[in-house]
This record gives sequence, structure tokens and C-alpha cells, in this order.
Amino acid sequence: MSVSFHDRDIISITDFSREEILSLCAAGRRMWEREKTGQRNSLRDALKHRTLSYMFYEPSTRTRTSFNTGMRELGGRYDGFSGTEGTSVMKNETVRDTVTMMCANHNDVIVMRHPLDGSLQWAADVANIPVINGGDGKNEHPTQALLDVLTIYSLREERLDGLRVGFGGDLSHGRTVRSLSLALSHFDDITIRWAAEDFLGMPEELEELLASRGVKVAREKTVRDVMRQVDFYYMTRPQLERMPGVRQKDIVAMMKQYRIDREKIEGFDVRVLHPLPVNSEIAEIDYRVYFTPAQAFFAQAEFGIFLRKALLHEMLGHEGYRHYNGRLPMELAVGNNRLPRRIHGLKQSGMFIDKIHDGAVIDHLAQGTLRAVSYALDLENRGYSCTTATITEKPNPFIKTNLRELPERDLKHVALLSPEPTINYVKEGRIVEKFVYLLCGNANCISRTINEDVPPRFYSDVGTIRCRYCRRPYAVAHRKVTPEERAAYIASLPARIEPVAYPD
Ligand code: NCD
Repeated sequence: MSVSFHDRDIISITDFSREEILSLCAAGRRMWEREKTGQRNSLRDALKHRTLSYMFYEPSTRTRTSFNTGMRELGGRYDGFSGTEGTSVMKNETVRDTVTMMCANHNDVIVMRHPLDGSLQWAADVANIPVINGGDGKNEHPTQALLDVLTIYSLREERLDGLRVGFGGDLSHGRTVRSLSLALSHFDDITIRWAAEDFLGMPEELEELLASRGVKVAREKTVRDVMRQVDFYYMTRPQLERMPGVRQKDIVAMMKQYRIDREKIEGFDVRVLHPLPVNSEIAEIDYRVYFTPAQAFFAQAEFGIFLRKALLHEMLGHEGYRHYNGRLPMELAVGNNRLPRRIHGLKQSGMFIDKIHDGAVIDHLAQGTLRAVSYALDLENRGYSCTTATITEKPNPFIKTNLRELPERDLKHVALLSPEPTINYVKEGRIVEKFVYLLCGNANCISRTINEDVPPRFYSDVGTIRCRYCRRPYAVAHRKVTPEERAAYIASLPARIEPVAYPD
């Protein structure tokens, strides 16, 4: 099978096959070879007239500059923003609109980093040019994983099977551990060992995913227990920016026995990797380790340049470009998160309180959420009726209104406050549509933000419902949804993340 990266979106490392990862490693090695034999500029016309747009909503040193270096050495250009100050993001512009503008500016590729999980899938859906994920929240960082793999591949004589790797620092709030461990899951006989404080430990969901992909994962008590049994130790920075309310002081205390210092590596033939940056306050790697043969993270950072240069070359090294036409695909407006429910003939709408002729009943609200939901909807101030009720026959409160169709933002507001509301639309006294509104359960997922207007979408991954954006599994919890209704909904979902077709 031939491997091609022409105009491909790079969103998740799980989208790559083993063959594709190895082919990028080989391409990265060729770039390394060129550099080390004095041929840095031998491909200087390869991406002439190509432009990369970098869109960094979060700080970055290596990811942004290494893509730029790759572009420069291949004869291309780059432009963009690093931090949102000075951009219209400060004026509440959505990701959709900002990404569209980068397409309008005749760029050929976007590299983006954003704090929300799934934001890069959304950017790829919106853009008519390829999009590379430079880190989305605590979700993924696929090119970091690829450069980490290239580093290991290079330091280990091009062998990845049978690898024993340790993880340390923060396995819970970062994206690099997730992407690298999933990248390694493409190879045989991989063992991951880790030691960290519970709060910073490997999420169970990731451990299960890795186990299902054949990776052996073991938790050890101490860093030295890990060091003793691995070839590489991948240290990471506690991601304070993703721990609201936690003080750096507490993390320093938590990290005390997990920092890498000279004593912890003494006597072991191990290479210490780190995606960088190291936090100088926490000093998760003691400066003295920098001067030992174990230090491999600066070489790792340079492998980032070879890998990204190779990737850009593979993606854009061909004729032709994508035309922009100012239009958006309809798919970006509608979700597939409405689980249809059977409409019972007998229980028609007007059964409780007042009858509704035309309007909506928002039913099965979680106990104690009625006030918050009606406050958020603010129906009366918008000129609609709003009857709220909790009655003894029904444990869950509901709202009736003469608003005939709830806008998507209203539905999201309701579902954020009270998951899985049942929405009934009533016409001429009869329920004409009844559905449960599903919303991804990952608090940091872009599909849960109100202002971004991302239509919630799911796909069915061998029977498991997953969010199209952050890819986290979703379990329907609604006690009234029957197994048949659930099965019919799953059957209606796409079996994978289908690309959005951009109108020509
Ligand atoms: C990492 C990131 O942003 O995910 N940095 C990087 O790309 N090398 C790791 C980090 O910030 O800790």
C-alpha cells in the first residue's frame, strides 16, 4: 500500500497506521541526513509559493518555530498569530470565522493550537485547506508524538517493537503522553511504566484504551522502579494552566519525589526525554541531569524540525492549490446529537398543568435544575410563555413554552445544566417530534461551548458512541430511552469521522 500525506488533515495520532508512522520516520531521517551532511537548503524550492498559517491560541516555542523553520528551509513562507492579543479573537470572533479567514488569505496549510479539546477537528471541518493539530487542550498533539517516535527510532537503531518506556510528571492534564502512548500502540510488545502522584496519574480511560490496543501498562511506586525497567523515561511538565484553583506551591510539593535528579538515574542506562518546556520553578528535571549522557531532550527538540519539515514536504510538495470561494458546507450548521424517541399515542402534550397547542415541552430535567434552566432560557423576557412544573406523578421537572423550536444555543444551555433533556415539539395539540438532546460529557470539549456554535456530532466506533471532536466515549444515561431507541440511534451514526466535503 502506498502512503500519501497529500493535503491530509493531521488531527489525531490514531488516524495513522504503523506503516505511515514508519514512513514519516524514514522521511524525517532523510531530512536529518541532509542537515548533518551540509545540505540544509537542498530542497529550498520544494515549497516555493506555499504559505503556512500558524494560529496559536496558546503559548508555544518549539511547535510554532519548528514548523516555521521547516517551511523556511523548503522555500515556503509563514504568517499567523502567536497568542490572541492583537487578533479579533479579543472581539469574540469564533474559531470557525478565524479559521475561514486564514483560508481566505490564500494559505496552503494551517497549524493551530487551542485550549479546547476537539477544536482541531472542528478547525479541519471548517477549513478547505489541510489543518495540522499543534495541540488541542489536553487531548492530542500528534506531531509531538511523531517527533518523539522519530527520536526513539533514531536512538534505537530504527527499532520500535519491544520498546520499554517510562512516563512521569503529569500524565493527566497533558496531551503529549496521550498522543505518544497511542502512537506506540501501533507497535508490538510495548510496555509503559509510570510513577506519579494520583492527581497527576494516567487517566483510567487512557489506560483502558491502551490495554485494548495491546499495550502493557504498569504503575510503579517510585521513579527508580520505573528507571530500572525502561530504555527511555519520558518526563512531562505539570500542566498548571489546566488545573484551575491549584497553586504551583502544591504541585512543587507533590512533585518532590517524582522529579528527575541525578540520584534517580544513577546506575541506569536510560535516556531522558521531555517534550519541553521544563518549568524552572518546579524543575521536574534537575539542571544537573542536563549535563549527563542521559539527557536526550535537546536532540529530541531538533528531531521536531526534521519531522515537521518532512511532514510539510509530504503534504504540500505537489502542484495545485485549493480555491477559496467564501462558502461553508451545510454540515457545519447541524449536529446529529438528537436521539429520537417514540411518540406515544395516548400521552399527548396537554396532560399536565395547562394545555399547549403549539410550542415545546422540555422534559426530564434533573431535579434541582429547574430554576437555573428557566433562568438561562429567559423565555418570558424574550416574549414567550414559560410554565415550570414539578409534580408528584413525575420525579423530574419540566418546562412548557409556546416557543415552537428551540435554537441550538438554547438546547445547549439546557443540556449543560441538565444533561439529556427530552424535547417535545407540539403542533396543534399533538407531539410531532420527541428527542433526547445529547451533549459530549467532556467538560473541556469545544462542542460544549455556547459561543463557538459547534454542532454536537457523534460517530459510532464499533458500537461505542464517540464525540466527533474530542473522540471521548459517550454513554446514554437517560432512564426512559429504550434499548431499541438507543440501538436505532447508534445505527444512524456514521461509523467513522467522515471528512466534511467543501463546496467547490
Ligand atoms: C507541549 C505542549 O504544548 O503540549 N509542548 C510542546 O509542544 N513541546 C508540552 C508542554 O507544554 O508541557
